[in-house]
Amino acid sequence: MKNFKSKILSQKSIALGYMEMKFSWPEDCETPKAGQFLTIKIQEQPIPLLRRPFALSAYNQEEKSASIIYQVRGTGTEILSSMKDGETLDVLSPLGNSFTMPKKKETPLLVAGGIGLGPILYFARELDKAGYSPILVFGCRDKSLIPDLPPLKNGRIQFCTDDGSEGFHGSSVDYLNCLDSSELKNAYVYSCGPTGMLKACHNFAVSKNIPSETAMEEMMACGVGACMGCVVELAEGQEKQYARVCKDGPVFQSRIIKWT
Ligand SMILES: Cc1cc2nc3c(=O)[nH]c(=O)nc-3n(C[C@H](O)[C@H](O)[C@H](O)COP(=O)(O)OP(=O)(O)OC[C@H]3O[C@@H](n4cnc5c(N)ncnc54)[C@H](O)[C@@H]3O)c2cc1C
Ligand code: FES
Repeated sequence: MKNFKSKILSQKSIALGYMEMKFSWPEDCETPKAGQFLTIKIQEQPIPLLRRPFALSAYNQEEKSASIIYQVRGTGTEILSSMKDGETLDVLSPLGNSFTMPKKKETPLLVAGGIGLGPILYFARELDKAGYSPILVFGCRDKSLIPDLPPLKNGRIQFCTDDGSEGFHGSSVDYLNCLDSSELKNAYVYSCGPTGMLKACHNFAVSKNIPSETAMEEMMACGVGACMGCVVELAEGQEKQYARVCKDGPVFQSRIIKWT
């Protein structure tokens, strides 16, 4: 983990209300892994006071750059979206743990919703490069929220919309349920997005008896394990009752989480 100043290299809108920001990554900072996150001190003024957490959505070794995909939600992300190329970010990263690589014969099923797209996209591209055939399923309300994404080389990206305006008509978990048994035989589910979607992905994995990991995105204060502000309750039988998303996660085996 390192606290560094980074230069914004580019910003663009990729879907309604969603931005992608690329920024410089220092030579002497460790390479971030898919699932890890960073926190940004938005500005020197007291508001917003707390650093804002975002998952890494890409890392480019040659260019020494990294990216995030974020939704403009409140004060912090509004300020972020108004920042221009060349402006400086105060970044603390890489934080948290990362997704586990599947076994060579496994098919990664990656499910993203809303702000969960960044880490899932990063992992899908890593798996694609490593020769896996990942299936990335992105679910959203309608086609205005579908981002413009370059295709995967070995895998595929499937969009699902609630209103059927593009892609599969239904939720991402409805789509998983339509996959044929050969694709599910050696599947490994990875998910990031709204809690209801994560719970449905977990239930799907349990019903098919396949492993599943989930990246949680609880509200955070310190982001480094000191305040207990980001705890999630763990399922019965775990050694501890709670885990800190920032320090023990954000990626967890979904079976250890208490899904209420
Ligand atoms: C580990 C982690 C990774 C994250 N990765 C991303 C990412 O890749 N892209 C992205 O867009 N966002 C991500 N988030 C959420 C992001 O941190 C919040 O959207 C951001 O802090 C909002 O800041 P703001 O000042 O604009 O909004 P605020 O004014 O602070 O809040 C506006 C509204 O946003 C919602 N909100 C704020 N924080 C969160 C949160 N952590 N989870 C869910 N809802 C929240 C609340 O409903 C709140 O009312 C991540 C959060 C965590 C903990
Ligand atoms: S945000 Fe402080 S412990 Fe996680």
